[in-house]
Amino acid sequence: MPEATENKGVLRRFLDAPPDSVGKTIFVAVTLCLVASMVVSAAAVALRPVQEANQLNDKRVNILQVAGVYNPEVPVAEAFAAFEPHVLDLATAEYSDQFDIDTFDALAASGDASVMRVLEDDPAGLGGQMQAYRMVYLLRDETGALDKVILPIEGYGLWSTLYGFIALEENGNDIFGLQFYQHGETPGLGAEVDNPRWKALWNGKQLFSEDGALAITVAKAAPPAGAEHHIDALAGATLTTVGVDNLVRFWMGEAGYGAFLERLKAGEAG
Ligand SMILES: Cc1cc2nc3c(=O)[nH]c(=O)nc-3n(C[C@H](O)[C@H](O)[C@H](O)COP(=O)(O)O)c2cc1C
Repeated sequence: MPEATENKGVLRRFLDAPPDSVGKTIFVAVTLCLVASMVVSAAAVALRPVQEANQLNDKRVNILQVAGVYNPEVPVAEAFAAFEPHVLDLATAEYSDQFDIDTFDALAASGDASVMRVLEDDPAGLGGQMQAYRMVYLLRDETGALDKVILPIEGYGLWSTLYGFIALEENGNDIFGLQFYQHGETPGLGAEVDNPRWKALWNGKQLFSEDGALAITVAKAAPPAGAEHHIDALAGATLTTVGVDNLVRFWMGEAGYGAFLERLKAGEAG
């Protein structure tokens, strides 16, 4: 090897190498990856507040829709101001003032132990634990009397956890509507939970039979309790249907909002 080449520094040899040398090809590839990953990370950080604001907005639109008061002409924040949010202690069925309404959702989503309860029986597939406190939304009529109550519900379908809201009339028994705002079920099958025709089936149904038993079911066949407690299964999506049945019955039952619904029925929770 000539002496001049031996004495060349690493940088000089790299610069002198042809553009398609292995060294230069790897250098370009690594540099590109680094630059691209920095751009993506910066975009993700910069866009996070926008994403969070969009998520909040979407959730509010869903609450307005399930309550039947959504109007695309009215700004969401303005329309949403009609709702009265409360953090509900599920065990006592009392509204709790130990949490900040504005930060409660983030605290609950973080799975903080102070707001969670371990579940021995987990029919809704919540991963063995549930929120012991839940954000609920009251809607009043022009006289100030309770009109509707919007309750968050969630549970496992076939592929995913479905997150949504159920809107009940002030008596805690009549369903006004049900709507999911997030899930990963298959379009055309389980995702038919979003079909307006299926969602319309919930309106006017009753949670409890006359003897006070939880009677609502989502199934192929009507239950003995009667059609007013029955929502037809999704065609070709029995497994998602079973998930919805389980989650609705769980949240409307004793471990969920049961005690709160009793208070509503007694006219005490408004
Ligand atoms: C690719 C694929 C995706 C499916 N997605 C769903 C779904 O989201 N929800 C569901 O209940 N069933 C889904 N199924 C069908 C279930 O495996 C099962 O056949 C169905 O729930 C039975 O419902 P049926 O008794 O009404 O026919 C899917 C099947 C396949 C092959």
